[in-house]
Amino acid sequence: AQQRVALTPPMGWNSWNHFAGRVTDADVRAAADAIVSSGMKDAGYIYVNIDDTWEGKRDASGVLHTNEKFPDMKALGDYIHSKGLKFGIYSSPGPQTCARFEGSYQHEEQDAKTWAEWGVDYIKYDLCSYRTIMREAAAKDPANGEKIQSDLMRQAYQKISDAIRKTGRPMVLSLCQYGWDEVWTWAPSLGGNLWRSTGDISDSYLSMSQIGFSQAGLSKYAGPGHWNDPDMLEVGNGRMTAEEYRTHMSLWSLLAAPLLAGNDLSKMSDETKSILLNKEVIAIDQDSLGKQGDRVWGKGALEVWAKPLSNGKVAVGLFNRSLEAAPVSVRFADAGAKSSAKVRDVWAGKDLGTKQGSYTANVAAHGVVLLILE
Ligand code: GLA
Repeated sequence: AQQRVALTPPMGWNSWNHFAGRVTDADVRAAADAIVSSGMKDAGYIYVNIDDTWEGKRDASGVLHTNEKFPDMKALGDYIHSKGLKFGIYSSPGPQTCARFEGSYQHEEQDAKTWAEWGVDYIKYDLCSYRTIMREAAAKDPANGEKIQSDLMRQAYQKISDAIRKTGRPMVLSLCQYGWDEVWTWAPSLGGNLWRSTGDISDSYLSMSQIGFSQAGLSKYAGPGHWNDPDMLEVGNGRMTAEEYRTHMSLWSLLAAPLLAGNDLSKMSDETKSILLNKEVIAIDQDSLGKQGDRVWGKGALEVWAKPLSNGKVAVGLFNRSLEAAPVSVRFADAGAKSSAKVRDVWAGKDLGTKQGSYTANVAAHGVVLLILE
């Protein structure tokens, strides 16, 4: 992985989930302001990341410029840094990004240099139109098609990783290729600090839960400096209930997932803040052991996930994916905890006393009860 960055899962904000292609310089400045004034910065949300649609045209020497929505990227980076925050942007190994703006194809070193000059600390590198290049190469030699595509994809990420290293500026490298080709098995060795392990999230319980619960079995691939990325948060975007957003935040924290808020930070309800800013939930995600949690029990719509924490504690999520409230139990042995454990309900902020062997809670529809066992 790129060295000495993302030792815990990256936290911050990204423009895509709320603003998509409409994002402007003013929106990003407002997000930087709000991340500070809301207390999110103090809670650990540090990266302010511009996603797709900032890109303009290349000049005669091939240097990429911004489009009219971003008049001065260096000045914007300076503004973000002046608040004690870090600055992220986006590109693609293809000739075009997913939103059909200019990509970095055949300009990798030049673009990495430009990002470094702008003060970029984080780059999300999204496969997009590079797939066409992969497919065209594969079509010429169908018998070896899969191998050809896989090799080309790895080469593209290796190339940008080397180009970043050459700039001498530390940058978090985020691979976005939708979880293909068991990316978790090869991304860290190419310098990836995080890699998308699924397709795109949208602001619905169905999308969020399908993505989140599909992560079972991936825990062994994550650790300090290299993380599975089940995509950015939808908390506060309006199409899930508070209960569902607590499920989202709990599951992402148990997964040691990057916590990149994807809502409009300048218009947050108190409820949204209470979810994004819960310090105990964030501490589960950011625990220094850097272990991703995994499913330890499941039956129908009920699932129990556990994440080992430092000092011998264990975080446990009791999840109910059904449409009616239901009791869910965790056997401490399944979660890797001792048979006698102090139990804390994290969202309720309540110590429940010492329990023997197991604990059962009634869990709301689409809800979670998040516990710490000690
Ligand atoms: C892809 C990515 C998204 C977002 C868009 C931007 O779909 O997976 O996260 O970056 O491209 O065009």
